[in-house]
Amino acid sequence: MTPEVARAAELLRAGGLVAFPTETVYGLGADASNAAAVARLYAVKRRPPGHPVIVHFDSAERAFAWAREVPEAACKLAARFWPGPLTLILKCSPLAKDFVTGGQDNVGVRVPSHPVAHEMLAAFGGGVAAPSANRFGLVSPTTAAHVREDLGNEVDLVLEGGPSEVGIESTILDLSGDVPTLLRPGHISKQELEQVIGRTIRDKGPIAPAHPGGLERHYAPRTLVKLVPPHALDAEIARLGVKVAVLAFSRPDERVDFWLRMPREPAGYAHKLYGALRELDTSDCDAILVEAPPDAPEWAAVRDRLRRACGEA
Ligand code: TXA
Ligand code: MG
Repeated sequence: MTPEVARAAELLRAGGLVAFPTETVYGLGADASNAAAVARLYAVKRRPPGHPVIVHFDSAERAFAWAREVPEAACKLAARFWPGPLTLILKCSPLAKDFVTGGQDNVGVRVPSHPVAHEMLAAFGGGVAAPSANRFGLVSPTTAAHVREDLGNEVDLVLEGGPSEVGIESTILDLSGDVPTLLRPGHISKQELEQVIGRTIRDKGPIAPAHPGGLERHYAPRTLVKLVPPHALDAEIARLGVKVAVLAFSRPDERVDFWLRMPREPAGYAHKLYGALRELDTSDCDAILVEAPPDAPEWAAVRDRLRRACGEA
C-alpha cells in the first residue's frame, strides 16, 4: 500500500474528507458510519441535506451487509459487474443510517474497480459515503486537478489516480421495489443489466420511487448549454449571433470561437465529456452548443448527461 493510501484510510477513520479516483468520476469520501463526517461532506459539497449518498465498499460481501434483503438479481449483477461502474439501491440494514439514506428505507451501494479506490476501501475496511467530488450541481470531476479546482483546500487529501476511464457516473439500478428500475443510465447499459437478471427493467418515470438527484439541474456548466440536432449546428450558430463554443463530431462551417471534436462512439465520448464541458465553460463564450449524439440505446447515458447539462433533468 502506498503511504498516501494509508494516510487516506487514517483520515477517513478520524472523520476526515478524502477525494479519491474511481473508474467513473472522482468521489469525495467520508466514513459512512460517522454522522459528523458526512455532515461535513454535505457542507463542503454545498449539497442540500436529506439527499441520499452512495456508499462504497471494497467487496460485495461488505456492501451487502448494509442491505437487509439481497435479491437474487443483486447477487447476479454483483457477480457480473462488481467491481465496476454499477450502483445498486437495496432495502437498507441498520448499518445504513438516515444521514446516508436521506431517511429513505433503502441505500445505494457500489464496489468501484479503480485500483486506488479499491486499495483505500480495503485499508479503511468500512463503507465510504461518496458523492462526486464537485460542488453540488456542477459537472463531476474526472481528474484530481478538477477536484482541486472545485474544492481546493476544503478537503483533507486528494488521492491521485489519473483520468477516470469511464468519465460519467455509475449506472444506478433500484432493486428495492417490486420492479427493477433504472434511476440513472451509465456505461453499463439497461440491456446488459436485463440480460443478466432475465427481467425487464423499467425506466425511471413519474411512478418510480423518489430520487432526489433526478430532480435537480445536475452536471451543468455555468455557461448556457444547448443541444442542437445534427446538421442544424451551422444554422443555430448563425441564428444566435453570439460568441459560441461548440462540442461536435466534426468542424462547423460557420465560424466559432472555440471548438472541440468528440469521438463518434459512446465510450470514448463519455470519457472526454466532462473535461470538454469544463474546458468550454472557461472559454468565455456566451453559449455552448452541443451537436446531439444519435438517438440510439448505446448513447442513452451520454444523452442523459447532455440533457442535464442543458438543465432538462
Ligand atoms: O459513479 C458514481 O456513482 C460516483 C462515484 C464517486 O462513485 N458517485 C456519484 O454520487 O455520482 P452522486 O452523489 O454525485 O450521485 C448519486 C446519485 C444521486 O442522484 C442520489 O440522489 C442517488 O445517487 N442516490 C444515492 N442513494 C440513493 C438512494 N438510496 N435512493 C435513490 N437514489 C439514491
Ligand atoms: Mg454528482
